[in-house]
Amino acid sequence: MRILLENLSKHFGKVKAVDSLNLEIKEGEFLVLLGPSGCGKTTTLLLIAGLYKPTFGNIYFGDKIVDHLSPKDRGIGMVFQSYALYPHMNVFDNIAFPLTLMKKPRNEIEKAVREIAKFVQLDEELLERRPGQLSGGQQQRVALARALVKGPSILLLDEPLSNLDAKLRLIMRAEIKHLQKQLGITTILVTHDQVEAMTMGDRIALMHNGKIQQLGTPDELYNQPINLFTAGFIGSPPMNIFNSKIGRDEEGYYILIEESFKVRFPEELFQKLKEENLFLGIRPEHVTISLQASNNLIPGRVYITEPLGRETLLNIQVGNILLKSIVPQTLKVSSGDKIWINFDVNYCHFFDKNGERIKI
Ligand SMILES: Nc1ncnc2c1ncn2[C@@H]1O[C@H](COP(=O)(O)OP(=O)(O)OP(=O)(O)O)[C@@H](O)[C@H]1O
Ligand SMILES: [Mg+2]
Repeated sequence: MRILLENLSKHFGKVKAVDSLNLEIKEGEFLVLLGPSGCGKTTTLLLIAGLYKPTFGNIYFGDKIVDHLSPKDRGIGMVFQSYALYPHMNVFDNIAFPLTLMKKPRNEIEKAVREIAKFVQLDEELLERRPGQLSGGQQQRVALARALVKGPSILLLDEPLSNLDAKLRLIMRAEIKHLQKQLGITTILVTHDQVEAMTMGDRIALMHNGKIQQLGTPDELYNQPINLFTAGFIGSPPMNIFNSKIGRDEEGYYILIEESFKVRFPEELFQKLKEENLFLGIRPEHVTISLQASNNLIPGRVYITEPLGRETLLNIQVGNILLKSIVPQTLKVSSGDKIWINFDVNYCHFFDKNGERIKI
């Protein structure tokens, strides 16, 4: 089922929780709504589910407006952040609940529940237990099974992994993605975790203050952030972002970083960077390190090293600023060592003084 949000808005008094959202989610797509706490993700999901009425705007499923449809008539399965399982019912009855409401015959319910439980890999023997007697991961599967048992055409997931420990989160991340592809069900997942968004979504809508900042594939958000908000939000450790100024001296053009040190780039670049004041962004993996001085390399000193196992995160002091670089663990350096750094111009991002990306 295709979903279209048209100028969708939800105001709570003065708070514009969702502010004129325009978004099309394609049939069978896995869309992630990503953003910091309070940006309007859950409100958007509840509007789509029909649990909130929009202040303005419309929601379409296929090409029909659904504003008048009650939640139960929208063909939606939803998993809430807290799972919201019924504590006094056993697992079987929890999963069966949507079908019981519809007064389906007992044998049909029996068959559907067992099938969906198997599909989400819940052991038969757990069906008799109460939710309180399950692990977090098992409760999560029950909530998923309950959302899917009616065979909905849309699946809404609000932070479904946030209650799980780190290891289980990795497992469920892959499983939910696999399950979504198997079912081909149009899915919207809400999260504030950019790694989850990057790994799971076909596309990501990054929200801030009730508005979409950028809509695109994980690759687009990572490699072509449209503004400073996206640049700073996507990526861990985050992009190095510097207040910068273009200048010219006897050696030619340079970019002065944080009034601290100069970086030289090919002359053609400067024709495209018209403004004097801008922001330069570079991801830690694109700050390259050399142990020997050479022309155009910038001298710095290792401030602290953070071994991550496969690689090492270096905090480097250059002039009076600190920047981050990710290097292979085979590069052995320690605090205080003198090193030289290079910014590869092909991996630098430039933003104007309003924080909008400068296309080069
Ligand atoms: N029922 C409500 N009444 C008043 N304000 C609300 C209500 N629900 C949400 N808000 C406000 O709307 C904004 C968006 O809330 P929402 O729950 O959609 O955020 P979120 O992106 O899901 O955040 P989180 O990641 O913390 O769950 C917040 O400022 C919140 O305080
Ligand atoms: Mg929320």
